[in-house]
Amino acid sequence: MLEFTGRNVRTRGNGGKRAMRLYVNVDHVATVRQARRATEPDPAEAAALCEAAGADGITVHLREDRRHIRDDDVHRLAAQVRTVLNLELATAPDIVALAARLRPHQATFVPERREEITTEGGLQLTGPGSPGPALVDAIARLRDAGIRLSLFVTPDLPTLDVAARLGVDAVELHTGAYAHAFPQAGRQLAQLLEAARHARRLGLAAHAGHGLTYANVHAVAALAEIEELNIGHSIVSHALFVGMSVAVAEMRAIVNAARVDQPQTRP
Ligand code: PXP
Repeated sequence: MLEFTGRNVRTRGNGGKRAMRLYVNVDHVATVRQARRATEPDPAEAAALCEAAGADGITVHLREDRRHIRDDDVHRLAAQVRTVLNLELATAPDIVALAARLRPHQATFVPERREEITTEGGLQLTGPGSPGPALVDAIARLRDAGIRLSLFVTPDLPTLDVAARLGVDAVELHTGAYAHAFPQAGRQLAQLLEAARHARRLGLAAHAGHGLTYANVHAVAALAEIEELNIGHSIVSHALFVGMSVAVAEMRAIVNAARVDQPQTRP
């Protein structure tokens, strides 16, 4: 049963368990706008509805090719968001400079390739030439600006070791492999759990995202070591049929219920 408590929608009796932050990625509201190079729908308007329906934060990815979110969206969101803004970015100097100026609550570094449909993998942090000076410099610049920093990575332990050495606050574990394998995703879920535990041991906060849907989010949301989910495409898609407020409230309810139902991450 849903309870509306001011800004948040909570499930009854969530048992005092650590809450999971739900950040809603509104990129694909801008995708619809950009399909016509029009002024609607406005991702900032969507963001306000998400917050009112219980999102703990708003995520946007300012891509180098500006295919959906544009610079002025980030400016408006930085001024408007009442929860927190999580800006996803690669290491393009102009975007790093924008982040340093606007100082969102959090910046999440992601890899970016022009030809990809969406962010396909995590950051390459291991192997020859990695993590590379562009990322190291961008981390230093945004850390100096006082921004909480996260790195989008595959759930791979050596990669997490490098992330910890880079001095960031958090890693966002790529849930694409889990989502792709779902519902036969036991192995991928175990990898996410192992990675989240490893991150915590290294002193990193564990976030997760990519490809999470109303159907597959429950098991990931139940992992107590993970404290933040970033979900976009599934929520925006559902919102076309039920509206943004209901779409966010339904995801919020599933995530909250998972925290209550499944103490499966205990040893
Ligand atoms: N997290 C990161 C780092 C992403 O790049 C994306 C996709 O933009 C997401 C989460 C959200 O993924 P989805 O749209 O599949 O929910």
